[in-house]
Amino acid sequence: MDGSSLTAPETAFWSRASRHMLKYGGDFVPFVPVRAEGSFVYDAAGRRVLDFTSGQMSAILGHCHPEIVATVRAAAGTLDHLFSSMLSHPVVDLAEALAATIPALPRVMLLSTGGEANEAAIKIAKLVTGGWEVIGFAQSWHGMTGGAAAATYKAGRRGYGPAAVGSFAIPAPSAFRPRFPGVSWQAELDDAFALVDRQSTGNFAAFIAEPILSSGGIIELPEGYLCALKAKCEERGMLLILDEAQTGLGRTGHMYACQRDGVVPDIMVLSKTLGAGLPLSAVLTSGAISAACDERDFLFYTTHVNDPLPASVGLKVLEIVERDGLAERAATLGARLKHGLHGLQSRHRWIGDVRGRGLLLGLEFVDEEEGERRSAAVLSDAVTDRALELGLSANIVRAGASGGVMRIAPPLLVTEAEIDLGLELLAKAMRDVA
Ligand SMILES: Cc1ncc(COP(=O)(O)O)c(C=O)c1O
Repeated sequence: MDGSSLTAPETAFWSRASRHMLKYGGDFVPFVPVRAEGSFVYDAAGRRVLDFTSGQMSAILGHCHPEIVATVRAAAGTLDHLFSSMLSHPVVDLAEALAATIPALPRVMLLSTGGEANEAAIKIAKLVTGGWEVIGFAQSWHGMTGGAAAATYKAGRRGYGPAAVGSFAIPAPSAFRPRFPGVSWQAELDDAFALVDRQSTGNFAAFIAEPILSSGGIIELPEGYLCALKAKCEERGMLLILDEAQTGLGRTGHMYACQRDGVVPDIMVLSKTLGAGLPLSAVLTSGAISAACDERDFLFYTTHVNDPLPASVGLKVLEIVERDGLAERAATLGARLKHGLHGLQSRHRWIGDVRGRGLLLGLEFVDEEEGERRSAAVLSDAVTDRALELGLSANIVRAGASGGVMRIAPPLLVTEAEIDLGLELLAKAMRDVA
């Protein structure tokens, strides 16, 4: 941050922040919003930043959507939080509405965060299979709590002692950077499972996967992969958990990304987008798995389980996503954004790849001067920083951890003009960095 350009109140703010704030993921962004509306966030001086990360990949309706504001106000004034064994109408209404979107998974529990919901999903898988071994992708992100963190391989494994016993990783297939060029994804998957089988004690519980690995660098599982993965799970009597934290609720052009492949997991986990920015997550599963949970006294008793206020919000989010055709909108606007990103790629040889679906897109930078296609985290970070100075927040992961992939995920209610503005700002940032 350039201290010389700060006003006196901003200097005081940062000085208090540096005295009191514990860092949890590198440096804080040098922009302090005081207000947010639609696709923009504003600071005290009225500077605006176009939010192409939907906050933390969650605000699919943009910021402070009037119907969400009204819902929060009404819920806070009527039914906020309850004893954890009490059900309420908003909770059952949301469970029913979610079940209608994926009828094979009609049993629902509502929680607060993605990590927490993955924790519950993994526990369910352990309880109903009797196993405890959990496989994930080597580029995965499922959360920061025990079981979810044990299945997260993208970052954060070192320094915290042992992960859960029985944690295994296999590589996700990458079309842009294949591990073994010329080897099919099916052969890679067979080989990975053969290796995991050798290590297993025969107690598999689950495979947990994101249909598009977002933090891993917008790695799309090729068509057919999820189906093959489900078959691998079935062969081993283990469950398939799909974590649709970022891909759920329309972002990829389908209500759920797994619908492109016609695959229904044993357990589906929703978070981020379900609350559109408020803390709400959900675990969805089948009647049979729910019955097995009942038989074995499944316990996941938390303070905010099935809380009515966030459930009211989730219900409204789902209503708006369906009513306003936001999955279709994500497909259409995503095509416009991708077209623009391809245009940038044609002008900058250091953009190696443009990928993703709907409004979940990634730009991968490459460092040609190294003579090979190395990822260029430095370039990605420089463009990210310059874009922010110009008024565009367009990369959710910063500083090295981005691995050179810029992730772009505007709200689903973004307008065509805002997409074009974002592309213009990105183009300028790239010109400046070049
Ligand atoms: C796919 C996925 N699952 C789970 C999580 C964890 O969610 P939370 O941070 O709400 O615990 C994340 C967070 O980035 C995520 O991207």
